[in-house]
Amino acid sequence: MGNHSDGSPNHSGTVAKGGQNDVEKFQDPGIPPHRLRLADTDPKAAKKAERQVALLFGISVVGTVIFLVAYFAIDLGKDSAIATIRLQNALLGIGTAFAMLGIGTGIVHWAKALMPDHEVSEERHAIRTEEDRQAAVRIVDDIVEETGIKRRPLIRNTLLGAVALAPLPALAIFGDLGPRPDNTLAHTMWAPQDGKLKRLTRDPDGTPIKAADVTIGSAFHVIPDGLNELSEGKLNEKAKSVVLLMRLNPEELHPSPGREDWAYNGIVAYSKICTHVGCPVALYEQQTHHLLCPCHQSTFDLTQQCKVIFGPASRPLPQLPIAVDSEGYLVATSDFHEPVGPSYWEREQHVLIPNS
Ligand code: FES
Repeated sequence: MGNHSDGSPNHSGTVAKGGQNDVEKFQDPGIPPHRLRLADTDPKAAKKAERQVALLFGISVVGTVIFLVAYFAIDLGKDSAIATIRLQNALLGIGTAFAMLGIGTGIVHWAKALMPDHEVSEERHAIRTEEDRQAAVRIVDDIVEETGIKRRPLIRNTLLGAVALAPLPALAIFGDLGPRPDNTLAHTMWAPQDGKLKRLTRDPDGTPIKAADVTIGSAFHVIPDGLNELSEGKLNEKAKSVVLLMRLNPEELHPSPGREDWAYNGIVAYSKICTHVGCPVALYEQQTHHLLCPCHQSTFDLTQQCKVIFGPASRPLPQLPIAVDSEGYLVATSDFHEPVGPSYWEREQHVLIPNS
């Protein structure tokens, strides 16, 4: 271990300043004198500090317990009032804060009030030999000894309790992540059901749209037929399947091979979910045929299959293939051929027709 300071100036050194010959000597002030703390001289003060540290670790334990009670005892059923959700969130936050702050402040107080605080200096040198390794092990042993953790069972036990309980909130949270989404991100309500094609309907009232209703320059916010009747998972389904429907002059569309029949008479449907981070692409500039995402200004060109022409999005908006049924209503002939919205790890596995 290094040398402990006696507090007196004990070294001298030199520093080069300016030119080679301009060397100025100075007196090394050394390490400042060591000041004893109250707990170093008064056993009662040391005992009091020990109890304070234990109290802080105890607060951490209480914080963890508050978190766990709030997490498991407050039932958030489907019909939970917003006040119940807020209460649980508040208790989870308070519990986590106490759990982390208790351990942190306890360790800081322990180090400042009870652990030896004498100043130590040691020359740097490479650690290579077995002797050095042994010396390092001895230093670690010294540190453990100096913490006093062996002599102070109150601190040791409360610290062990606080550290053992502190990860439990994380376990509870990870356990609540739920089942893997698997390929639910790759499918939407637009897939035909029992051979029946889904009609395009207006958002939010769900009335079907006839091709004749869509005039050149108009834009419709669209949801799949039947979405409003869902009793469960309606918002999740809507988040994936919302679509923008527009009509252009058919000559202005330039479909790539394989997509020639995805539009009907200049009417095209594209996912409304931005491929950047998923905001709704809600602005249509009918003069330029551009769709604009208001979040970070990604701009998609309808005449080029919604290719990105500006902004941070990296992929075109997925196109929904459409046609018209026997009554003249617009229908989706299939689901999207790629997952909508932002990228995720397994996305490429679910792409049926890559964008060209
Ligand atoms: Fe659309 Fe960022 S979410 S540009």
